[in-house]
Amino acid sequence: MDGKNKIQWAMNWMPVLDNIRKGFISNKPFKDLKISMALHLEAKTAALAYTLKQGGAKVRISGCNPLSTDDEVAASLKDDFGVSVFAKRGLTREEYYEHLEKTIEIEPDIIIDDGGDLTALALKDKRTYKNIKGGNEETTTGVVRLKNMEKAGALKFPMFDVNDALMKHLFDNRYGTGQSTIDGILTATNLVVAGKNVVVGGYGWCGRGIANKMRGLGANVTVTEIDPFKSIEAHMDGFIVKPMEEAIGYADFVITATGVKDIVTPELLKDAKDGVVLANSGHFNNEVAVEDIEKEFGKGKVVRRNVKAYTIGKKKAYVLSDGRLVNLASGQGHPVEIMDLSFSIQALTAKYIAENPPKQVKVYPVPNEIDLEVATIYLKSYGIKLDKLTREQQRYINSWQEGT
Ligand SMILES: NC(=O)c1ccc[n+]([C@@H]2O[C@H](COP(=O)([O-])OP(=O)(O)OC[C@H]3O[C@@H](n4cnc5c(N)ncnc54)[C@H](O)[C@@H]3O)[C@@H](O)[C@H]2O)c1
Repeated sequence: MDGKNKIQWAMNWMPVLDNIRKGFISNKPFKDLKISMALHLEAKTAALAYTLKQGGAKVRISGCNPLSTDDEVAASLKDDFGVSVFAKRGLTREEYYEHLEKTIEIEPDIIIDDGGDLTALALKDKRTYKNIKGGNEETTTGVVRLKNMEKAGALKFPMFDVNDALMKHLFDNRYGTGQSTIDGILTATNLVVAGKNVVVGGYGWCGRGIANKMRGLGANVTVTEIDPFKSIEAHMDGFIVKPMEEAIGYADFVITATGVKDIVTPELLKDAKDGVVLANSGHFNNEVAVEDIEKEFGKGKVVRRNVKAYTIGKKKAYVLSDGRLVNLASGQGHPVEIMDLSFSIQALTAKYIAENPPKQVKVYPVPNEIDLEVATIYLKSYGIKLDKLTREQQRYINSWQEGT
């Protein structure tokens, strides 16, 4: 019952996807098509899977992370909404891949992936990818992997970079990750943020969201970066910018969001403040190098749900949700209205693939008209009105003679 309530609650707050679903019900863009999906399986994702099913698709779904599935939602998506689900929270690596295998074995026409694991698995066997007309990738790390596959000649079907659609990363990565990372950390620890030193690794779309929300709660925020331009943005946004080896000594919380491994290593931890809390919001669980930390300091001790303590000499360090995405593993994932936007982009891009199967094997950007359609439905749903250029203003911006 709770799973069904969670899905229905999410659907109530997803007006853009609701609008798209109504169109899918009438037009059935996915009639006779099979869709395999691997996404963090929680209530908002269930709304997307059901939307695709209502558009006529045969849908199979698994999680894209061993710790992010909401089991109540997974059960309800199967029993109440009739979607084939292969997902469970707390899977071993082997079980996780078995679930992905089950999802891809239907020889899908379209795939929807988050992080690149389903895509990489599909590419291992021609039978599983031979029908794929195209697919979507949800996140930054998955897009980086896709572009590497394309460069290496390993990609065998077209993929769309959903992450870089404006209506995705501007809101999901920044406001979604910003808010939900804090939700995850506070749920796991129940600690105060005000007055604490928070170090955020990476000032990309996610990092800037986290840094700004943490400042809003009264933290003193330091940013670490490798990019000269992003570090100047962080500096001018009013954050302290330092290398991690300097910042870790005074950090109460370290939060990583870089998409790169080894941001917090055992070596760095030796200089950390006693009681430092380590959380990751990047896609993979190697930003806080948990495996190496366990090799050096031994298996951690569970001291609270989703919190493990490690003893480093006389000091303690606490790792949240085994270094997996803290917002999903310890929190509730992104706010519903944010996922309304990301999953509306997913739904319309899948429809685009069904109706215009792309010819070339490469990573495509999401067509602008899809971004615009999602923005337009959003503005209408929330009653937000814009100004319009007058004919005279249009003439002015298209001319070069008139300056003053
Ligand atoms: N938790 C979530 O729900 C969620 C949502 C969206 C994206 N993500 C994931 O979060 C990660 C970051 O995504 P993004 O969209 O912010 O990417 P991004 O490319 O916009 O930002 C990453 C930033 O990290 C910086 N960086 C790289 N290596 C670094 C290092 N060694 N030290 C310090 N900074 C470093 C880069 O210069 C860049 O500015 C990715 O793994 C992405 O898949 C997670």
